[in-house]
Amino acid sequence: MSAEETNTAAARTPFPADLIYHSGFGNHFSSEAVSGALPRSQNSPLLCPYGLYAEQISGTSFTSPRKHNQRSWLYRVKPSVTHEPFRPRVPDHLKLVSEFDRSNSSATPTQLRWKPADVPEPPTDFVDGLYTVCGAGSSYLRHGFAIHMYAANVSMDNYAFCSADGDFLIVPQQGRLWITTECGRLQVSPGEIVVIPQGFRFAVDLPDGPSRGYVAEIFGSHFQLPDLGPIGANGLASSRDFLVPEAWFEDVPCPGYTIVQKFGGELFTAKQDFSPFNVVAWHGNYVPYKYDLSKFCPYNTVLVDHGDPSINTVLTAPTDRPGVALLDFVIFPPRWLVAEHTFRPPYYHRNCMSEFMGLIHGGYEAKADGFLPGGASLHSCMTPHGPDTKTYEATIAMENEAEPKRISNTMAFMFESCLMPRVCPWALESPYMDHEYYQCWIGLKSHFTREPLTVNSQEVKSEDGT
Ligand SMILES: [Fe+2]
Repeated sequence: MSAEETNTAAARTPFPADLIYHSGFGNHFSSEAVSGALPRSQNSPLLCPYGLYAEQISGTSFTSPRKHNQRSWLYRVKPSVTHEPFRPRVPDHLKLVSEFDRSNSSATPTQLRWKPADVPEPPTDFVDGLYTVCGAGSSYLRHGFAIHMYAANVSMDNYAFCSADGDFLIVPQQGRLWITTECGRLQVSPGEIVVIPQGFRFAVDLPDGPSRGYVAEIFGSHFQLPDLGPIGANGLASSRDFLVPEAWFEDVPCPGYTIVQKFGGELFTAKQDFSPFNVVAWHGNYVPYKYDLSKFCPYNTVLVDHGDPSINTVLTAPTDRPGVALLDFVIFPPRWLVAEHTFRPPYYHRNCMSEFMGLIHGGYEAKADGFLPGGASLHSCMTPHGPDTKTYEATIAMENEAEPKRISNTMAFMFESCLMPRVCPWALESPYMDHEYYQCWIGLKSHFTREPLTVNSQEVKSEDGT
């Protein structure tokens, strides 16, 4: 099939290069594709402007505290309820998990690493190309997360997807995404991320063909900006750099259009004869959004030691325990390294949190080789990890000669969770599994000596000066 033939109704018109967005994070936005379509004085008038239906989508319970409450009002040509009953999708999707237990996943404390997966040859869209790698907890119990990856090459054809299980944070690594949502359209390129909140219907078109990336799905929480503490009022990800789509709709016949809903990890389909992207106006604070990672304003040590990676948190999904994240999204962007008499790469580490890492482009400072763009690693709760042998030896060989150095051409990221992930069998048995990963540390040798060390002809003193 040609690209033209596979285009969905929502993507019959290519996305304009100059899509306009609203700016801000957590705002109460208002957006109209037709002037006057938004009721001005109430949410649910007897008759909405232009004969539209009013429909609310709730992202938090009605009674959530005001500072956490998220909902939007959509004014649409036909309401979402206008469809035939949901039925299990045929064929089923066997590689999506939203409740992790012994029946569908394994526990392992081993350090795991995957090489980049090839994009499949057969036509594969975003949903069919999605597979769960690992996760913890349960979407039914509204506490947990799943980490998925995708490898796809064609646009979704005449259907929309939505997850009733959780928010999707999508990190494209190869290929742009044209994402049509009920709130409007987003173009997301590698180097940007997009969040589609739980319940929103969306369709993914792949204008560049072969595409690949990562997804963190969170159950029972939403992403927010981290507190900045002593950093102050500015820094890290800035609210104004988050972009929200403007209202956009299509009102064309769509015979056989399908809604594919992920519900408890299973896929269900429902037929309707219209596009779900029929929202003429909307307002609220429960919205999809994207963010360009190059806008991130990193902070780091300027004298000694290696800061904890939490300093690079872009978004955090909290638990009820202060400072304990269901899932943090952390990046390792280009930046200057200036610390004196310091081992500058990440320190050796065992963590009560679990760390899944991916690489969007370039290299990663703690691994001389083997961790590649499109690949991934998992270091679970209390599993040791850190720089490989080559990185350690090359770093200490520099002694104190290290000048300020700019790390360029890199964009690594981490999904970090307080929950212990279980790993899906297809991920453990994947042909892309790097079974030799442990070898990168095996060569670390003892440098211990009972004789005083010298660096630059100067004796390295112990802490008490002896
Ligand atoms: Fe770590």
